[in-house]
Amino acid sequence: MYKKLISYYYTGTGNSYRVASWVADKASRKALEVKMIPVGKYDKKQLDDTDADTIIHITFPTHALTAPFSVIKFVRELPKAKGQKVMITATRSGGAFLKDMPGCEGTGSYLIGLILALKGYNIVSVEAIDMPPNWNVMLPTYTVKKNEYIIGVSNTFVNELSEKILSGKKVYGGFISFLIGLVCLPLSLAYLFAGRFFLPKMLFSNHKCTGCGLCAKSCPVGAIKMLGKEEKRPYWKFSCESCMRCTAFCPNNAVEAHHIILIFAMFIGLTGEIFDIIYLRLKPIITIPDLNNVVSSVAQVILALGFTYITNYLLFILNRNKLINKFFTYTSLTHYMKRYKEPDTKIEEIL
Ligand SMILES: Cc1cc2nc3c(=O)[nH]c(=O)nc-3n(C[C@H](O)[C@H](O)[C@H](O)COP(=O)(O)O)c2cc1C
Ligand code: SF4
Ligand code: SF4
Repeated sequence: MYKKLISYYYTGTGNSYRVASWVADKASRKALEVKMIPVGKYDKKQLDDTDADTIIHITFPTHALTAPFSVIKFVRELPKAKGQKVMITATRSGGAFLKDMPGCEGTGSYLIGLILALKGYNIVSVEAIDMPPNWNVMLPTYTVKKNEYIIGVSNTFVNELSEKILSGKKVYGGFISFLIGLVCLPLSLAYLFAGRFFLPKMLFSNHKCTGCGLCAKSCPVGAIKMLGKEEKRPYWKFSCESCMRCTAFCPNNAVEAHHIILIFAMFIGLTGEIFDIIYLRLKPIITIPDLNNVVSSVAQVILALGFTYITNYLLFILNRNKLINKFFTYTSLTHYMKRYKEPDTKIEEIL
């Protein structure tokens, strides 16, 4: 049937990588030539020697009921198809209340499918796989036992799914999730265009950070700079996608989130209080046209981003003081919610 599998994966904490590797293992056992490539390391030439005998597998996590920005950008940049078939797999967080409760990938997988179909790719499968949740700056981590259960169930499901796909069948799932995603589209768009810039600016390194630089080296989108002359510390840029890799793989559990500041930034961004104060004060002094709702909402977000940028830089400097750093560490929920990474994934495998 197929002769070659090219697996492009985007992963933060290893879930999507694990799912991609289950499919790759199955393909190897069926004697396919297999290549696994992280999305950020994609080289356009890699697709030149592929044809209708090739199946391309794209795996990525769900972020805010859609695909992460890097994955959308990646598929948009892919060349036009030469008959290749594509299997699309979104991973999502299962087991929220009951251990078998599915997560919701929303519009993510079908959006990627649509972009590729428009380029002429033949989409043979669209599915979502439940894995443990990894958004540790927002939600607590499950127990090891519950994570193992979710991974075990998904392993069996992916084995059966890949058997079908690699034997030439087509499988399309996730219609209910897609409908939920459509209803929640404003939320996903708000995350893609604004929310994803706020959250990473909440990350900081606590007093256990040794300045080893692993977080900067392993970030899939190069969003961490090591700053400082003698004692270098990580500084998070706006390009961070909140994939949680730095939080999960830091050898000292030193990455935390400033939850106090997050609440403050959300207050400014969502209520528009400060924007209103500035706008009303300036209006009698300089000529500003009346703003409609859209313009004032965009202005509010820009103001909140500016606030976030400045406070984050100030906090980066303040956090060098041990006492202040401890204050933020112990008021951070990350400190109490634990950190998740896919248990079998080593950081070296996904660099
Ligand atoms: C910023 C962010 C947003 C997320 N949004 C969703 C979501 O909308 N629905 C869902 O089911 N899981 C969501 N998750 C959970 C991840 O999609 C899930 O744990 C995934 O398997 C992580 O894969 P990775 O380890 O390959 O990054 C989110 C995780 C993060 C970090
Ligand atoms: S946060 Fe962790 S990985 Fe990053 S430099 Fe500090 S100790 Fe190293
Ligand atoms: S800075 Fe951390 S959370 Fe952000 S994209 Fe890089 S590794 Fe992921």
